[in-house]
Amino acid sequence: MTGGAGYIGTHSIIELLNAGHDISVIDDLSNSHIAALQRVRKLTKRDLAFMQADLCDTTAVSAELQRFRPDGVIHFAGLKAVGASVARPLDYYRKNVGGTLSLLAGMERVGCHKIVFSSSATVYGLPQYLPYDEQHPTVPVNPYGHTKLMIEQILRDWSVTHRDASAVCLRYFNPAGAHPSGEIGENPKGVPDNLMPFLAQVASGHRPALTVFGNDFETRDGTGERDYIHVVDLARAHLAAIEHVRTNSGFQVFNIGTGRGVTVLELAAAFTRMSGRPIATTVTARRSGDLARFYANAQRAEKTLGWTAQKSLFDICADAWRWQRQNPDGYDD
Ligand code: NAD
Ligand code: WQD
Repeated sequence: MTGGAGYIGTHSIIELLNAGHDISVIDDLSNSHIAALQRVRKLTKRDLAFMQADLCDTTAVSAELQRFRPDGVIHFAGLKAVGASVARPLDYYRKNVGGTLSLLAGMERVGCHKIVFSSSATVYGLPQYLPYDEQHPTVPVNPYGHTKLMIEQILRDWSVTHRDASAVCLRYFNPAGAHPSGEIGENPKGVPDNLMPFLAQVASGHRPALTVFGNDFETRDGTGERDYIHVVDLARAHLAAIEHVRTNSGFQVFNIGTGRGVTVLELAAAFTRMSGRPIATTVTARRSGDLARFYANAQRAEKTLGWTAQKSLFDICADAWRWQRQNPDGYDD
């Protein structure tokens, strides 16, 4: 697993270890904390291998693949901040696209031809219709989204070069929430970019108010509408996907979302109902590049992977809140 020390990676490890898989993680810890993996070990009562390395270091990555000899790879590692990708596009192409090429080179050397990749709904760009299905045109509007689409293309081309090759790209919608234990969660450095961790920090008193980025969108209440997917549901999609690549060949993309859109104000209200904490809001101008609304048609994942989201918006809020209260300083505690 690349990037396994991060937010989605740690939750996925738990599901995979509990299902009996053995795991080796390669992560440079550029956006994560080693303590997260220690907590995963504690929760699952299982061990896992870990190598701290940049994915672009093909020698190190190859050495770990030679040692561990995986049946398949789940590839989470990458940079993910949309704004930073506009400011530093070359970093994003180098780390995301370059890192994937390096990983594939290492996989080739050990004859591993099975991969599940973290893609994103951001590959679709401006909705031509909703919900987005997997046939929707892909026209990303920022460098981050371009890197995701390029990696999908690389995997599509690579998947025809071996008879047993199988690549699955999971296009996540908006991952949110935390592990129900309260031990594992999202640990953003500095001011959170994403809505849910920001909301949790307002509820806990770490920040005075939620800044709502625009209330003049064409949505029910004027605020942005998104498809929030519980991170444990998302983790389980990886379990289904790794089973799929093991027993299939070819290239496939799947939307991973709930199919339900929730606005910023609706999420804030749900958080207040669940936590009993009022959320002060101030409205500012729209954030550059934000879309009014998008949500998933996730029927293909249901039909082919047997996966659907099980958890509710209440679960997302309750688990994010438990994580926030138990770990006000994240893994720095
Ligand atoms: P995260 O930053 O918590 O996890 C990514 C992990 O990869 C981190 O542990 C980081 O240290 C590591 N990493 C980054 N660059 C690396 C490199 N060059 N070499 C080795 N390790 C490296 O992010 P996340 O939210 O868990 O996201 C995981 C994946 O899912 C990413 O590819 C991201 O683009 C994708 N994704 C995330 C979201 C989201 O909203 N969280 C939505 C769609 C897609
Ligand atoms: C959600 C809604 C904001 C923060 C991003 C990436 C996307 C994917 C998921 C990786 C929007 C509003 C937010 C705040 C707010 N990541 N908001 N105040 O932008 O849908 O998606 O993360 O692939 O590529 O773009 O998620 O959580 O940032 O925003 O009003 O402080 O909340 O405008 O409507 P987004 P988000």
